[in-house]
Amino acid sequence: MLEIRSVTRRFGETVAVDGVDIQIAEGEMVGVIGRSGAGKSTLLRMINRLIDPSEGAILFKGREVSSLKGAALRRWQRDCAMIFQQFNLVPRLDVLTNVLLGRLNHRSTALNLLNLYSREERIQAVAALERLDIAHTALQQAGTLSGGQQQRVAIARALMQEPKVILADEPIASLDPLNAKVVMDSLADINAREGITVITNLHTLDTARRYCTRIIGMARGKVVFDGAAQALTAEAVRRIYGAEAGADAVPEAITSTSIETPAAPEPAFAG
Ligand SMILES: Nc1ncnc2c1ncn2[C@@H]1O[C@H](COP(=O)(O)OP(=O)(O)O)[C@@H](O)[C@H]1O
Ligand SMILES: [Mg+2]
Repeated sequence: MLEIRSVTRRFGETVAVDGVDIQIAEGEMVGVIGRSGAGKSTLLRMINRLIDPSEGAILFKGREVSSLKGAALRRWQRDCAMIFQQFNLVPRLDVLTNVLLGRLNHRSTALNLLNLYSREERIQAVAALERLDIAHTALQQAGTLSGGQQQRVAIARALMQEPKVILADEPIASLDPLNAKVVMDSLADINAREGITVITNLHTLDTARRYCTRIIGMARGKVVFDGAAQALTAEAVRRIYGAEAGADAVPEAITSTSIETPAAPEPAFAG
């Protein structure tokens, strides 16, 4: 239902994404892995049209989304919610308002200008925060929250869009292992319960293995692996990360924010 057809994106001399063909079915949970600079972010951004392909086409349910303009483009961007490594909240606004911003593309310009949200939208926003276990932060300034809480607000905002696809670009790269687990569990839960397709760039191999039914490995703009997590052999890992990433010598950078890492013990209260 989401089809990436011979897509290439150049930045000057750099070929960030090089002739990529991928088909993703509704309800899949896909992890995109690869070294820094492999083209993962560029691929994700082309799907939701933050940037446009130099060549090729992207189709959703048979309709080309890579050529949409105006209101149709805004509807597509509402259908595919984006989650970023750095959360992209409005730090001075309270959490509830940040979540309500997920409704922007659902509403008329007039309603947005007047900042009028319906009772139903407010209830929906609180419910989204409750689901992510952060309803108690609703009236705090978003910028005062911890990274893990901010990413949960971003997921609540994404849910408010009622998206068909969630695109997450390294959603846990800035989080400690415990918060990383909470965020990945939330994405997996949304995928399982609502059947929303999730495509997430991940720089940790073990996270992709643990959460994603399908893994796409990229190197130098090309897809060099596409298959089930179980099919990700040491040889495939070397193709994705380079020859030095042997089965017993996976670079530290790949596993550094591993969710499996045991959390540091809670400090004992003094007095
Ligand atoms: N806006 C841009 N301008 C110029 N080069 C870019 C831009 N975005 C990405 N690139 C280049 O494209 C390549 C792929 O980048 P990116 O998609 O960010 O990779 P990844 O997310 O896998 O780290 C890199 O060489 C990067 O420097
Ligand atoms: Mg990136």
